[in-house]
Amino acid sequence: MSYARFLSVVVLASAVCAAPVERQEQSFGPDSQISAQVPTPTVGYPVVVYENGYTSATYHGPYTGTATVTGAANGPETLAASIAPGPPNPTATYYNSEGVPLNPMPAPYTPAGGLGTNGTLPRYMVESDFDFESIALGLYQEWIELDLFHDGLARFSDAEFTAAGLGPEARSLIEFMANQESGHATLLTNMLGERAPKECIYNYPYTTVREWVDFMQRLTRFGESGVWGFINHLDSREVGQLLAQSIATEARQQQVFRQMSGLTPMDVWFENGWPQSWAWTMLAPYISYCPENQTRLVWQNFPTLHILNNANINRFSPNDTSQNGNETVGDRIADPSLSTIPDSASCEYLTGPPGYACEPAVAHNKSEPLSFPGKKILFEWDAPGQAVGPNNSYVTSTNAGSPKFVAWSNQLNLTYSALTLTGNNSGFTYQPEGYVYGDDGIINGTMAVLLTDLDLYVTPFNTSMLNPHVVALGMYQAG
Ligand SMILES: *[C@@H]1O[C@H](CO)[C@@H](O)[C@H](O)[C@H]1NC(C)=O
Ligand SMILES: *[C@@H]1O[C@H](CO)[C@@H](O)[C@H](O)[C@H]1NC(C)=O
Ligand SMILES: *[C@@H]1O[C@H](CO)[C@@H](O)[C@H](O)[C@H]1NC(C)=O
Ligand SMILES: *[C@@H]1O[C@H](CO)[C@@H](O)[C@H](O)[C@H]1NC(C)=O
Ligand SMILES: *[C@@H]1O[C@H](CO)[C@@H](O)[C@H](O)[C@H]1NC(C)=O
Ligand SMILES: *[C@@H]1O[C@H](CO)[C@@H](O)[C@H](O)[C@H]1NC(C)=O
Ligand SMILES: *[C@@H]1O[C@H](CO)[C@@H](O)[C@H](O)[C@H]1NC(C)=O
Ligand SMILES: *[C@@H]1O[C@H](CO)[C@@H](O)[C@H](O)[C@H]1NC(C)=O
Ligand SMILES: *[C@@H]1O[C@H](CO)[C@@H](O)[C@H](O)[C@H]1NC(C)=O
Ligand SMILES: *[C@@H]1O[C@H](CO)[C@@H](O)[C@H](O)[C@H]1NC(C)=O
Repeated sequence: MSYARFLSVVVLASAVCAAPVERQEQSFGPDSQISAQVPTPTVGYPVVVYENGYTSATYHGPYTGTATVTGAANGPETLAASIAPGPPNPTATYYNSEGVPLNPMPAPYTPAGGLGTNGTLPRYMVESDFDFESIALGLYQEWIELDLFHDGLARFSDAEFTAAGLGPEARSLIEFMANQESGHATLLTNMLGERAPKECIYNYPYTTVREWVDFMQRLTRFGESGVWGFINHLDSREVGQLLAQSIATEARQQQVFRQMSGLTPMDVWFENGWPQSWAWTMLAPYISYCPENQTRLVWQNFPTLHILNNANINRFSPNDTSQNGNETVGDRIADPSLSTIPDSASCEYLTGPPGYACEPAVAHNKSEPLSFPGKKILFEWDAPGQAVGPNNSYVTSTNAGSPKFVAWSNQLNLTYSALTLTGNNSGFTYQPEGYVYGDDGIINGTMAVLLTDLDLYVTPFNTSMLNPHVVALGMYQAG
């Protein structure tokens, strides 16, 4: 059997003949021993990860060493500073005004066209550098989810879960979602081969059950959108097929975490795609150590855009966040809202008229929205050149000039508002109003917001053309 055939059998039949990766026993001692706890990379292939169940790592925390390698991965050469816009594809001309097949049919009940429909044998393997780097990014994401979803279950007591409104059945559901991640990590590893990135050690921002769940609704948001951004650009349709089947699950996870956070389960009509560098920018700050010889990524890390008055999802009157300043637990891009606010301001234990409470529920109305058109949004942003990510070995960068616009990326749109500078690294804007179709407001839910030097027109299939114009990237909490 050829290598590729063998691979597709492993992927599709979930063959258990593959050698499992055994997790190294982790017993954490003093700081100086942390390096010894970085999971040992497993050489060999194919792989089924954690066949006998995953146990959350016993160490989570920051990286304390000095990076030996820095910067994103590079190819043999880089051919231009950016991609030049081009004309439409000359073959993109099909139009059907008849409503019936216009071309000879290759077989009964089989209209002409499509990709991978002419009988070629599928090959479930990345097919280009673009595919490899995109799926490798996806795998970094699956690994953190595997550890993160397990971590809260291990970290918090049953009493803390019950107090946060999450009973035993809810915890079982989270455990099921955690276990889904070992399947996703296996799938992506198999599509990459022997240089698939390995699991790392993570540094999480939360201290309460609510903050953990909030962090998971943010993390799965950029995990999902990070995939929608590249899935239809992949060279390998076969890889895209399998990836779609795992990201459909991730989308369900995001909604469940929204419900457990007491947010409206769905605020929007469309979930959009984000370029890989946005997802990597959001993910990297939470990865502290990766094993020796870890496969590095080519994607850019943008400077962080801090939203000083991002809505606190735990307030029954979220607009009060603006009077109280920054209510994020930390400084990282997807850090959750602070949950340890006075009970008198919290929506968590409210009973009374619908529209204000935010305990876990199938659905909530927000009588006072988390944000609204016209809200004045206060920003600060980091200068480039900061060490982030695994072993602090990536460096934030921007290719843009000075910031002039705020870009709001959500649904089918990327829309802009004007940035007013109040200092070298601070400014404000007003949340714009805009609609997709009908009364479906563009700005809603958990979304990406960027500072740019240009209000470049981009659409869902060419969003990455904006990257050379990005000054800083943040995550906005609307709803
Ligand atoms: C099927 O289509 C692929 C391109 O999509 C092409 O490379 C291949 O030659 C085609 N096979 C046949 C039998 O026509
Ligand atoms: C990260 O740091 C750990 C501990 O110092 C080290 O064992 C590991 O090789 C480093 N990983 C990379 C990718 O440099
Ligand atoms: C890392 O790569 C070096 C050079 O290829 C090799 O000698 C070493 O054994 C590798 N380490 C691990 C843990 O795979
Ligand atoms: C939100 O808070 C700001 C600052 O206190 C206030 O000026 C504004 O009127 C409030 N807006 C709404 C819609 O509550
Ligand atoms: C926001 O508050 C958190 C928690 O106090 C702090 O760590 C962070 O630095 C603050 N961020 C900004 C931009 O002030
Ligand atoms: C919830 O919101 C919808 C639409 O905004 C509204 O029609 C409905 O009356 C609200 N339901 C309750 C119970 O507040
Ligand atoms: C802003 O930048 C200018 C030019 O780089 C510098 O001279 C000035 O000191 C900076 N101001 C502040 C408040 O950092
Ligand atoms: C948002 O995108 C939709 C679909 O392309 C378009 O119809 C609508 O006009 C856009 N809205 C704005 C405010 O750009
Ligand atoms: C956001 O979505 C919620 C729920 O669908 C809706 O009630 C609200 O009006 C939307 N906000 C905006 C600004 O469109
Ligand atoms: C992106 O695509 C749209 C068409 O959907 C086009 O009008 C726009 O110019 C493109 N943007 C760039 C930067 O190429």
